[in-house]
Amino acid sequence: MKVLVTGGMGYIGSHTVIELLKSKKFKVISADNCERSTPETASRIELITGEKVMNYPVDIAEKESFFKIFEENPDVEAIIHFAAYKSVPESVAKPLLYYRNNLQVLENVLEACAKFHVHNLIFSSSCSVYGEVSDLPVNELTPLREPFSPYAHTKQIGEKMIEFYAQMNPSLKAVNLRYFNPVGADMSGKNGELSPDKPNNLLPIITQVAIGKLSRLTVFGTDYPTRDGTCIRDYIHVSDIATAHIQALQFLIDKKNEHAVEVFNLGSGQGVTVFEMVHAFEKVIQKTLPVQIGERRAGDVSAIYSDSSKAEKLLGWVPQYSLDDMVDSAWRWELYLQNVL
Ligand code: UD1
Repeated sequence: MKVLVTGGMGYIGSHTVIELLKSKKFKVISADNCERSTPETASRIELITGEKVMNYPVDIAEKESFFKIFEENPDVEAIIHFAAYKSVPESVAKPLLYYRNNLQVLENVLEACAKFHVHNLIFSSSCSVYGEVSDLPVNELTPLREPFSPYAHTKQIGEKMIEFYAQMNPSLKAVNLRYFNPVGADMSGKNGELSPDKPNNLLPIITQVAIGKLSRLTVFGTDYPTRDGTCIRDYIHVSDIATAHIQALQFLIDKKNEHAVEVFNLGSGQGVTVFEMVHAFEKVIQKTLPVQIGERRAGDVSAIYSDSSKAEKLLGWVPQYSLDDMVDSAWRWELYLQNVL
């Protein structure tokens, strides 16, 4: 089966391409204009898997060039759709950028599904769709609350767009995967998160502080109602997230879905505070990091972690990697980058 991965040069996208190729069950092509990723990722994928992946450097928001991919590849049978902007604070600062990009791109993906008879779609959603929840852990039946950021809102709208579209296009089957906080790098240490600008996410910032690219880590708020006052998140290894996409695709191929659109949480189930993450990292590098306390960051919820038992039961998904693996692989990736860049 040929699979089109949108955003295949990006963080979660590239790890998913790696796992798709490793499985030997799929032919893979990617569509990524590398606005927020890098074309060199294709070489890293080849280094790890021994296989070349064709990336079409198109802007998916431009329908005509995006649709050409399907004209050249009429045998695409599934789309795994990652391509989107993903920074919570940036979305608060530039809401229209997020609505325009994330929704326009999804609209074109859905239209392509109908026009080119692609019946299987996996969509990157986020735990941010739950908003601020008091009853933890959250499962797929937890009602969605007020979104805390435009990023979260684009994911809520995206899930609904897929649901309504699938009602009118009964041949389309989709899975919305709600990621908690994907972190870490391929266990080879040769592929990981790489953004052209300053990173926004906690673990890439920590590794850049440790290597000296950034001077210190600012902890955004220590007055949250949590055990040490910092936000609680559910960190999950990126390769575990990647594997879930293959299991979700197989679930659709095997027609195991009960509804046209199924939703799964993907988290470790463990809530970790910002300070706990910093200490886990300090244990790996055997050094103390320079840390300062800052104000709360706009768009942050105080605590969230997952009940992922539905993914375990229906997809057979069981995360393989521990918090130590997440932190250790992220650090090895940072060291690798220092040697190759
Ligand atoms: C959010 C989404 C997540 C999504 C990710 C994509 C939620 C709950 N989660 O993650 O599903 O995959 O966006 O980017 O909305 N922090 C600091 N200092 C820093 C950076 C971060 O203290 O310099 C703190 C944040 O305040 C937060 C935690 O670290 O509490 C994690 O932040 P981050 O890595 O940016 O991810 P989220 O915004 O939680």
